[in-house]
Amino acid sequence: MPRPAGFRANSGCPRVESFYYQAGCLFITLKPTAQKPGALRVAVLRIHVAGLELEHPVMNASGILGSSPEALGRLARAGASALVTKSFTKEPREGYPTPIAVPLPYGLLNAVGLSNPGLEGLPSLVKAARRLGRPVIVSIAGSEPGEFAELAAAAEEAGAAAVELNLSCPHARGRGLELGMDPQTVGEIVAAVASTVKIPVLAKLGLVDRLVEAAGKALEAGARGLVLINTLRAMAIDVYAMRPVLGNRVGGLSGPAIHPVAVRAVYEVYREHNCDIIGVGGVEDWRSAAELILAGARAIQVGTAIVTRGEQVIDEIVKGLENYLNEVGVKSLEELVGAAHKQ
Ligand SMILES: Cc1cc2nc3c(=O)[nH]c(=O)nc-3n(C[C@H](O)[C@H](O)[C@H](O)COP(=O)(O)O)c2cc1C
Repeated sequence: MPRPAGFRANSGCPRVESFYYQAGCLFITLKPTAQKPGALRVAVLRIHVAGLELEHPVMNASGILGSSPEALGRLARAGASALVTKSFTKEPREGYPTPIAVPLPYGLLNAVGLSNPGLEGLPSLVKAARRLGRPVIVSIAGSEPGEFAELAAAAEEAGAAAVELNLSCPHARGRGLELGMDPQTVGEIVAAVASTVKIPVLAKLGLVDRLVEAAGKALEAGARGLVLINTLRAMAIDVYAMRPVLGNRVGGLSGPAIHPVAVRAVYEVYREHNCDIIGVGGVEDWRSAAELILAGARAIQVGTAIVTRGEQVIDEIVKGLENYLNEVGVKSLEELVGAAHKQ
């Protein structure tokens, strides 16, 4: 092609490949750039889960960078496919006395105590998060069905794409795991929320003896999907102070130590119910994410790894999964969901 008048091959600017003037206009050709971390571009990893369409399966776990618009903005820039808020309760909660978290060689022990601004702070955070252009999943925690329903209605009104019911926090008295360990109660809470809102309801369950039964009750009651698992009730003791390290004494263990437990939980629930699951627990690289997907998860949440390595771990996991799919010759992530059950 003949070069137009005024063609210049070198502008001196490193991003400009060539430029020229024609008919009073400046035409610029930019050099192709490497993919920016966080740019959503992974068609092969596109997945549907519980009524949500995601560009790829990787998002943050509740309680991790989910308390402020700035923190959620960091997650969006890091490429999270959905944004999950910190759990909201009806009343504001200050949280537990410090120390609220202690790093361990194999994970993290925390007892934050569900600190949050309460129902009043929910609409403004959700509205700000929506501007970031990703589905916003609002996590809520309560002590009885009516409280969950009220919070879910506020989340829907503010524009949430889904609500995640925290039925599994292991250190919140009268909330969380105390509710989630009783399948009947799980069913009642999910039913109250599902009959109040039209957006998808996700039930987040933790490590309980009757997990498969509780999962079944949640699905029967109208949950579109499950989030498995929360932290495990745990404790660390300072051997010189001779007392528990955490201000609340007991907390929740997360990170690599709980990953095999999460894989087992997802595997058993998927085998019984063949339902939509978001897997969470000790995901720190593409391999641990892939394990949860092969066990039956359609999407993945990342918590502790964001705390210990920064939010860029999200993009590392996404790229790693993409390479893995190419390596094993699979065109779509969909084909891998629950694949470990076929072997
Ligand atoms: C500091 C911290 C705060 C958390 N806060 C919440 C919360 O508010 N609601 C909730 O459902 N889970 C909460 N979790 C649990 C995580 O969402 C996740 O289920 C758990 O940490 C396991 O994932 P991980 O091993 O990737 O961290 C919290 C975890 C941590 C470490």
